[in-house]
Amino acid sequence: MLMQDAETRRALWDRLAAAIEKYLNGVSEARVAPELIVGGMDGMGAIREALAPFDFERPVAPAEALDFAVDGLWRWQVHTPHPRYFGLFNPATTPMGIAADALVAAFNPQLAAWSHSPLAAEVEQHLVRAFAGRFGFDPGRTEGTFTSGGAEANHTALVTALNRAFPEIGRRGLLALRSQPILYVSPEAHHSFLKAARLSGLGTEAVREVRVDSSLRMIPEDLRTRIREDREAGLAPFLVVATLGSTSAGVVDPVADLAQVADEEGVWLHADAAWGGAVALVPELHGVIEGIARASSITFDAHKWLSVPMGAGLYLTRHAGILERTFRVSARYMPREAASLGVADPYAHSMQWSRRFIGLKVFLSLAVAGWEGYAEAIRHQTAMGDLLRQRLREAGWVVVNDTPLPVVCFVDGGGGGRAGRSAAFVEGVAQEVVGSGEAWISSVVLGEVGPALRACITNYRTGQEDVEALVASLGRARERLWSRPGS
Ligand SMILES: Cc1ncc(COP(=O)(O)O)c(C=O)c1O
Repeated sequence: MLMQDAETRRALWDRLAAAIEKYLNGVSEARVAPELIVGGMDGMGAIREALAPFDFERPVAPAEALDFAVDGLWRWQVHTPHPRYFGLFNPATTPMGIAADALVAAFNPQLAAWSHSPLAAEVEQHLVRAFAGRFGFDPGRTEGTFTSGGAEANHTALVTALNRAFPEIGRRGLLALRSQPILYVSPEAHHSFLKAARLSGLGTEAVREVRVDSSLRMIPEDLRTRIREDREAGLAPFLVVATLGSTSAGVVDPVADLAQVADEEGVWLHADAAWGGAVALVPELHGVIEGIARASSITFDAHKWLSVPMGAGLYLTRHAGILERTFRVSARYMPREAASLGVADPYAHSMQWSRRFIGLKVFLSLAVAGWEGYAEAIRHQTAMGDLLRQRLREAGWVVVNDTPLPVVCFVDGGGGGRAGRSAAFVEGVAQEVVGSGEAWISSVVLGEVGPALRACITNYRTGQEDVEALVASLGRARERLWSRPGS
């Protein structure tokens, strides 16, 4: 029952390929958020009802099982590969990325030990060097590991910084430290740092929020003051996080100035460039993240702007040996050939042990598109972001975030006055747009600006007509809300 005969397998692959093609060709015609998703609890009931016949007492035919999954995915997900999904950095995936993931599932290379999967390990290290070069790190001296995503890469940054600042911590633990380690983020930083602080045993009170300017960029002088105050209070600053393309508003912290403070104060600077780091692939946009090469480590997610399937994160560091010191443990049952070959076993450089070949989807996508293919896609998406800002202004919205990246936060600028900036109005517009099935956007709360709508060009296939459709949908949503009694 686990292995089907050759004829059944052939039919299964054909069916699978047809289903994928149908999705890629047809997703732009679908509602972006299916009605049942919008329906909340009703949707949940329907999904559970559809699942109930699968009691696993009665095996079903492969085609039947596959069709169930295909139908269910069509009906019950927000279609992130839809060109009118203006959402949370979730891309439309590349065909080469899809092929790579299927291939990896079939060959199932084990990326714990180098000697089990030398091709996979070397492909990933080749990519580490290639991306290091793009970010201005010395490729020959950079170390890195692929991760499940940005959260794991950020967690890796926190623990490597901790191990560098407190070399005994791996053996003796936090309790042996004489002072509490402290890290610094902007209020716009990704919340994975709070999780990492919790999971590492530091606790969330070890995370300091540094003040930001009117563009929500971290203020280097405030960082310096906070570090010095904490040190005087007997605490131990060890890590600063610069966010290069924040999740809510695409804010890019002044990484060169933050690097200056970090160097002078002797703390590790981590650049969380999970999404925004992609501009490193476009020569004329590289200046947006000028100074990133001075960071000690970088988070970059290929499953965001490089449009490969989830999960594909990358952690890079200039500090050779720190991954080994942080993650290496000795296990007699593991193959040991790597040591004599002078290469690293991936499990000794990562939180993960048995690990999927994450890098192949990046490698095949990049091999086929080339740097220039990616630069073109990123340029296009950036241009669509500029177009969206322009069309929104023409339609009476006010853009409230300041970024060259294609994420646009905005509020109503017209008849609504203060009410047009209220949380209820902002939420109401987002819900109306999502509920219409015409597009997907979200809402955020930005510093002193407060609630705002958020739309991001996440898809390399999003074109001018999609941008205009979104603005039209927003206009209808606004009209419907204003015309409701009591508004
Ligand atoms: C700036 C930033 N860092 C980290 C992450 C976490 O990445 P992931 O969801 O891949 O774990 C995100 C997610 O959107 C992000 O925007």
